[in-house]
Amino acid sequence: MTNSPYEHHEYDVLIIGAGGAGLRAAIEAKQRGLKVGIITKSLLGKAHTVMAEGGMAAAMGNVYEEDNWMVHFRDTMRGGKYLNNYRMAELHAKEAPDRVWELEQWGALFDRTKDGKILQRDFGGHRYARLAHVGDRTGLELIRTLQQKVVSMGTDVFMECKVLRLIHDSAGRVAGCVAYWRANGEFVTFSAKAVILATGGVGKSWKFTSNSWEGTGDGHAMALWAGAELIDMECIQFHPTGMVWPLSVRGLLVTEGVRGDGGVLRNSEGKRFMFDYVADMFRAETADSEEEADRWYDDHAAGRRPPELLPRDEVARAINTEVKAGRGSPHGGVYLDIASRRSAEVIRRRLPSMYHQFMELAGVDITREAMEIGPTCHYIMGGVKVDAETTATKVPGLFAAGEVAGGMHGANRLGGNSLSDLIVFGRRAGMGAAEYIEAGSVATDFDLGEVEAAIAEALAPFERTSGENPYDIQRDLQEMMQSNVGIIRTASEIDEAIVELEKFSERVQNIAIKGGRAYNPGWNLATDLPSMLSVSKCTARGARERKESRGGHTREDFPKASAEFGKVNFAHSLPQGANWHDEISTNPVPVMTVPAELQALLEEAK
Ligand code: FUM
Repeated sequence: MTNSPYEHHEYDVLIIGAGGAGLRAAIEAKQRGLKVGIITKSLLGKAHTVMAEGGMAAAMGNVYEEDNWMVHFRDTMRGGKYLNNYRMAELHAKEAPDRVWELEQWGALFDRTKDGKILQRDFGGHRYARLAHVGDRTGLELIRTLQQKVVSMGTDVFMECKVLRLIHDSAGRVAGCVAYWRANGEFVTFSAKAVILATGGVGKSWKFTSNSWEGTGDGHAMALWAGAELIDMECIQFHPTGMVWPLSVRGLLVTEGVRGDGGVLRNSEGKRFMFDYVADMFRAETADSEEEADRWYDDHAAGRRPPELLPRDEVARAINTEVKAGRGSPHGGVYLDIASRRSAEVIRRRLPSMYHQFMELAGVDITREAMEIGPTCHYIMGGVKVDAETTATKVPGLFAAGEVAGGMHGANRLGGNSLSDLIVFGRRAGMGAAEYIEAGSVATDFDLGEVEAAIAEALAPFERTSGENPYDIQRDLQEMMQSNVGIIRTASEIDEAIVELEKFSERVQNIAIKGGRAYNPGWNLATDLPSMLSVSKCTARGARERKESRGGHTREDFPKASAEFGKVNFAHSLPQGANWHDEISTNPVPVMTVPAELQALLEEAK
């Protein structure tokens, strides 16, 4: 028993985050007979998972029989510019089909081929049409299915509960966490034999993002503060297509499914400009004329891929260049045109959410007009360093799955590989936690000193009669990260960001909050800001160290990939017991060596 003076709950496995990875982990742990609790600071069913709209990648071979896990593995490694944890990419490619079929058994309703199989669509960087989908609402269907399963299994779900810190036992194992209820501001502690982080991403530190308010990097930061390592934090994915207009919805995702289903990108001169941006590594397989590109949609053997379906990092950089060169649309994007290429009936059937989103938010009928789009911060490839088989971190008792975990996607994630990552590694996290518990060396006590320190820090803003407004800090941080650590980076901007982030840390320690603790969004944001800053510092530090351009990290001053930097990931750590604002260590660690038989698959594709 834990001697907590607060409302207290005890579990075998505690899962922080209720998106796809957290829910899939919960199912696995429940099926293994464990007592499972899920905590979400938001509501069940509301997670960034729903923003993976176009599908989940799995080499099922339903549309192209030639597809298999080896091609998927190769595409993922190549898309990640070989910084990936190869074993994660291998397990993902091998296991994704079973995880998709399992979802179907649990009630997910996928679109169908003519002969009744799960339909698969094209996405950037995937050799074959590989994304199992439900129109453009795939993430929603995934989460709906998993949520129904979790609820039917009788799992406890704590909603609107914000976790502040992970708590250790006296041997340094993770023993649970301390949190507060957003509704009344009261504190609550949870003890557990194993904790799984499934908290998603960090996009809210940038100004234009597809992430909603939850994406503040809480899990990344809590893992760092608890003694785990973060890797590849400089690799941020700017999805090429977010809405740019109206301003109130700038950054909202426009699914890659639009391009997968035939949409093309044009600049203000009407030019299909992506033909001008084909990097050498993709040249042999990319069409060099519109006719050839268009033949490919009907039969992948009859032509080479359209350049609009290059990986996201390539497309986002190209759009950025066109806009900077003055060939952008009136609101600072470019045009995404499906209206002139597919019938209104097909567009409405295949892309119903996009149709409604543009009609209702921008007054644009995408069956008749082109959309104005531009890059939006969508995903972080970096995250907690984990073991591929079990998702265990270096802190005993702590596991991480989904976007909060690093390694799987290397320097750049292929679209559609996120939903399949959630279900493959969500399941493995549940398994890993169960095996850890079975092995028996779990936390034996619960450090109440850590609990009291976290609570004192959370309450400090109420004690100041004057100080900073958290919303001012958030706005300034987002603007600073967008301009200094955005799509294209330079040494001087990154250095400036590093200096600025220290100043933000001081400002956060001077926040003053008025009012009570019940439903106080200013206070809630104040408790998110330390996470946002820790994550941003890791991103900036990794960006400074990586003196090359690779995937979701582009340096104007080092525009090419370098063989030397291709051999390392950058790992960030803090000593256990450090404060969130203490100096982070950043060190190179060797990229995992790919075994010969898998290397042969990669060589074949070079
Ligand atoms: O464009 C999209 O539908 C997003 C998918 C993803 O991020 O995997």
